[in-house]
Amino acid sequence: MSKTLIAFFSRRGENYVGYSKQYIKVGHTEVAAEMCKELTGADIFNIVMKKPYSDEYDVCMRESKDDYNNNARPELRDLPESIDEYDTIILAYPNYWNTMPMAVFTFLEAFDFSNKKILPLCTNEGNDLGRSIEDIKKICRNSSVARGLSLSGSGVENSQKHIENWLTENGVI
Ligand SMILES: Cc1cc2nc3c(=O)[nH]c(=O)nc-3n(C[C@H](O)[C@H](O)[C@H](O)COP(=O)(O)O)c2cc1C
Repeated sequence: MSKTLIAFFSRRGENYVGYSKQYIKVGHTEVAAEMCKELTGADIFNIVMKKPYSDEYDVCMRESKDDYNNNARPELRDLPESIDEYDTIILAYPNYWNTMPMAVFTFLEAFDFSNKKILPLCTNEGNDLGRSIEDIKKICRNSSVARGLSLSGSGVENSQKHIENWLTENGVI
């Protein structure tokens, strides 16, 4: 039987909502990932860095830009024991520097995604999926990577229908 894992990276703390900075208790991508969970009943895994980026927006910008510039692979707090049982992975992440946060690269490189279907979902503030699809394909060469879903981070609360259509289109629900 087909089994789905939702793996997501998201950050709580200070971020832009529209034009103003606000302190967010649940990150935009986490909201989208939870919607996916509600719609599919799939298992869910939170990709968390051992040393998470700062809650302060400006500090997080600096830290994550350094990781991006250094092509770093930040250590993760934990990983699923195995992903063998899953044939579909919903990979949800924010657009950082026009691609995925480097911790998502760490996650993708930790497993063999061959013959699995990856559904990328990217929350962002205007750059859509950026280069993330190409970057996923470079790491997961033997996976089938579906059309990615771009969602406005600050408008994520209204994304339920988009997510539902996308999951239906991909045969997940
Ligand atoms: C460090 C950082 C870099 C970002 N870079 C981009 C970017 O290049 N393009 C874009 O459209 N949005 C960018 N954003 C906006 C985020 O993608 C957006 O706020 C996202 O919804 C945050 O998700 P989260 O709350 O789950 O962490 C960036 C945000 C941060 C904090």
